[in-house]
Amino acid sequence: AIIYAIAIAGGYFFGSIPFGLVITRMAGLGDIRSIGSGNIGATNVLRTGRKDLALATLLLDAGKAGIAAAIFSFIFSFHAGLLAGAAAFVGHCYPVWLKFKGGKGVATFIGMLFGIMWQVGIAFAICWLSIAVAFRYSSLAALVTAALLPALTYWLVGDIFALCVTAALSILLFYRHRENIKRLMNGTEEKIGKKKAKDL
Ligand code: G3P
Repeated sequence: AIIYAIAIAGGYFFGSIPFGLVITRMAGLGDIRSIGSGNIGATNVLRTGRKDLALATLLLDAGKAGIAAAIFSFIFSFHAGLLAGAAAFVGHCYPVWLKFKGGKGVATFIGMLFGIMWQVGIAFAICWLSIAVAFRYSSLAALVTAALLPALTYWLVGDIFALCVTAALSILLFYRHRENIKRLMNGTEEKIGKKKAKDL
């Protein structure tokens, strides 16, 4: 049990580093939380017009969860890695440094999958990209992917604990996207790559 406690604490610590906020602030763009959706994730960093910073945010947010999961999986066990990855996801969504107001967990989710279950990571990427290309909503792509993910995980990995952890993270992802769900339903969600009125 002590191993699992260490994995959760370590994962949370890695996950709570808000790279989107740090990167945009370092680039002199001000506070990302006052731009677009107000989220600290890569999708919202993209709304600043800086594709390079959005990509860096995606890679670092995914990387922090992937590294946490991989380290604990390597040192202890696959289940410890799962818990560390899940804790990184929770740390990203509820970082102590930002008064527990963090992101929505999409990049940390895929990162943790690539860290310990790369097959599921590839399935996540294919599903997310297909929906994003077809409909151009980042949030919709994440929601559909999260809905399919627990079943995909069980199918690809065959581990009940992995199924439970991914199901719990998918539920949390839905909860973190509740504003996006409202916007998708009333047609006000912003599409990826949408030209701003001022740029037309
Ligand atoms: O990565 C989070 C994405 O699914 C939604 O982000 O900024 O559109 O709320 P955002």
